[in-house]
Amino acid sequence: MIAVACDHGGFELKQEILKYLNEKEIPYIDFGCDSTQAVDYPVYARKVVHAILDGKCDKGVLICGTGIGISITANRYRGIRAALCSDCFSAEATRQHNDANILAMGGRVVGPGLAVKILDTFLNTPFSEGERHKNRIRLIDEPEE
Ligand code: RB5
Repeated sequence: MIAVACDHGGFELKQEILKYLNEKEIPYIDFGCDSTQAVDYPVYARKVVHAILDGKCDKGVLICGTGIGISITANRYRGIRAALCSDCFSAEATRQHNDANILAMGGRVVGPGLAVKILDTFLNTPFSEGERHKNRIRLIDEPEE
């Protein structure tokens, strides 16, 4: 199950993302927002974060104008690895190396065609399971001494 949310800056791109998920029959929950009326991106980032941390969803997609604010918010939570991607290489690498569980994109940065390819890459690339990558992911959440 994929958790999807955006702010007003990501609303239009989110419609393209939902179209893709519908076409591919990939189950998702849309946590809003529902229009281009201005809203606060942290509110929507947290909805996707909690859906993942509660085990309701296994991956998420977050979209704001740049993808920056919404990914900064998501990455404040332990266990969340939100990757801001504007290209397919990064989307593939962040799944393989970081086991990213949220894809963040900027609705004012990437066009719909590229965004859908980035999402397709993200969803279809498995984590490498490499020991060095597992160790680095563990280190992300480890408290400093
Ligand atoms: C909203 O205008 C914009 O600041 C927001 O969508 C996002 O880009 C923040 O990082």
